[in-house]
Amino acid sequence: MKDLIITIFGATGDLTSRKLLPALAKLYKRKKITDQMMIVALGRRDYDTNSYLEYMKETSSAKLDVKTLEKIVEYHQIEITNLSDYKELVEKIKCHKHENTRELFYLAIGPELFPIVSKNINESKLVTIGNINQSIIFEKPFGHDLESAKNISEMLWNYFDEKQIYRIDHYLGKEMIQNIMMVRFANRIFEEIWHNRSIKSVKIIAKETDGILGRAGYYDTSGALKDMVQSHLLQMLSMIAMEVPLSYHSDDVKDEKIKVLKHLSFDRDSLIFAQYDGYLEEKNISKDSKTETFVFLKAFVNTPRFKGVPFYLMTGKKLDQKESIIIIEFEETSEQRKWNLPLSTNKLYIKIAPLDGVGLVLNSKVPGLRDDVETVELEYCIACHAVGNMSEAYEKLLLEVTEHHKSLFTRWDEIELSWHFIDQIKKYQKDPIQYKDYEDIKPIIFEMTKEEMK
Ligand code: BG6
Repeated sequence: MKDLIITIFGATGDLTSRKLLPALAKLYKRKKITDQMMIVALGRRDYDTNSYLEYMKETSSAKLDVKTLEKIVEYHQIEITNLSDYKELVEKIKCHKHENTRELFYLAIGPELFPIVSKNINESKLVTIGNINQSIIFEKPFGHDLESAKNISEMLWNYFDEKQIYRIDHYLGKEMIQNIMMVRFANRIFEEIWHNRSIKSVKIIAKETDGILGRAGYYDTSGALKDMVQSHLLQMLSMIAMEVPLSYHSDDVKDEKIKVLKHLSFDRDSLIFAQYDGYLEEKNISKDSKTETFVFLKAFVNTPRFKGVPFYLMTGKKLDQKESIIIIEFEETSEQRKWNLPLSTNKLYIKIAPLDGVGLVLNSKVPGLRDDVETVELEYCIACHAVGNMSEAYEKLLLEVTEHHKSLFTRWDEIELSWHFIDQIKKYQKDPIQYKDYEDIKPIIFEMTKEEMK
């Protein structure tokens, strides 16, 4: 009998091979999760467990620990759109579960399959609506606009209770994102200056060097704005701009994030949409695609705390480096304004990836006899101190679901408001400009904002 059964729909797909199996193998091996666990991998193809794992090992771009996975995975062949195929699956799972078994159902499938699979899960009685020991997990795209997102949610609520639903935004599983509230609320020096009288601007940046990596089907209908801003960048923004929550319980934190999303606006003239050279030659991309692979915008959070502070959001593919970072720039001191010295403003770097940590940019005198000045960075690199112990976002997120913790998952109203914001921006979408590399875009941003973006 198992204490935990994780059933993966879409078990031969990219998400399962790159993220889910590696994360589950690590959790199991490091004893972070019950050893009385089992993964039921569902696929259409005719494999047994060994040939399935062999196939995954060969095709995965991540390193798969097959030795560990052999102990916990069982492959089960099924046509997931076919209700009659579920009978055997229900029986199989029944054989392994007891009264209190925790059951997770991960929909690692395209959203077009959600309706039929949810219906089948419900009608076959694989999951009973309202049973909180049974959870449904899935990730974006949660629709392609507000309307379609609403339709997906309403459809899901026919079969599952909201309490059973876990919507993944994998950025929330990243160490430094979880650390934002600690940095903000547990450090007096920041608490006192976290407002528009001291903060000059906020930059939220997610740069990537890769292109679309064969995800043409999804990406070409999405683009950078929907792919990254609607989810990851707006989540980061709301954590930076939110008020102190009533408590740190999931709903209280989300209530504050919601208020930020409700007060968002953007500057139409600031919008930049761009597409990397070579995008139109990617496999399965139509030759006249106007999909943007880069987006920049200036937003505002119209709350008393942040009114007037520009939030620059930027994300794109095929740029100069892989880096996700939030830069909080502070106003100059009054003394500093009087001096004609090459000093910088203070900046707080919240470094999310690839190296997570915190940096603080300060001005200082160069040691020695002369009165030269220099700008220095105090740096705390989390990964450098936690060699071997850093957990991947998916490890954290999967563990959180098993423990019924919902803080790191998005609530429907967050999704609803973020789509509302994106839909507004979409109305002003322009044809993308072309870029060979980041150097082509930098001057355009500078001309528009007088801001160096990094
Ligand atoms: C995903 C997007 O949500 O995030 C991808 O769909 C993007 O297009 C990825 O590459 C970036 O995540 P990370 O963790 O590599 O910064």
